[in-house]
Amino acid sequence: MLKGLSATKIGTLREEIMPQLTVHDVGTFEVPEGKRLVLALREEAGIDQLHACGGRAKCTTCRVEFVNGEPDKITQAERDVLQAKGLSGVRLSCQILCDQDMTVQVISRLEGSGRADCGTQPSPDLEPAPEWVAKG
Ligand code: FES
Repeated sequence: MLKGLSATKIGTLREEIMPQLTVHDVGTFEVPEGKRLVLALREEAGIDQLHACGGRAKCTTCRVEFVNGEPDKITQAERDVLQAKGLSGVRLSCQILCDQDMTVQVISRLEGSGRADCGTQPSPDLEPAPEWVAKG
């Protein structure tokens, strides 16, 4: 499909489709489409975002507040753990893929947490395997 396009043009097209992640009071960053939000916060935005359980929808330390661009869909695992812990108004960055522009407020960082580190490194892929449901 991209046959005949120069490497520069392909690079430009790639940049045009990369979602933008804005972290409130920090900045805006281009993120590879489909990257886990928790990893984009760590790697693209350089945030010391907590992810104590390693991105497995168990701890909720990866929670963020959405300012704009909150995804309509949610994994069943995220919905279950938010409900079990009585949390509302937050989303789990380990359960969200950067497939659109979004703006978040970071509310759960290593700094000030008293923890030794951010947590186990999350896998590049969603864990557990996602079962998507409407946010509702
Ligand atoms: S719920 Fe533990 S890192 Fe997301």
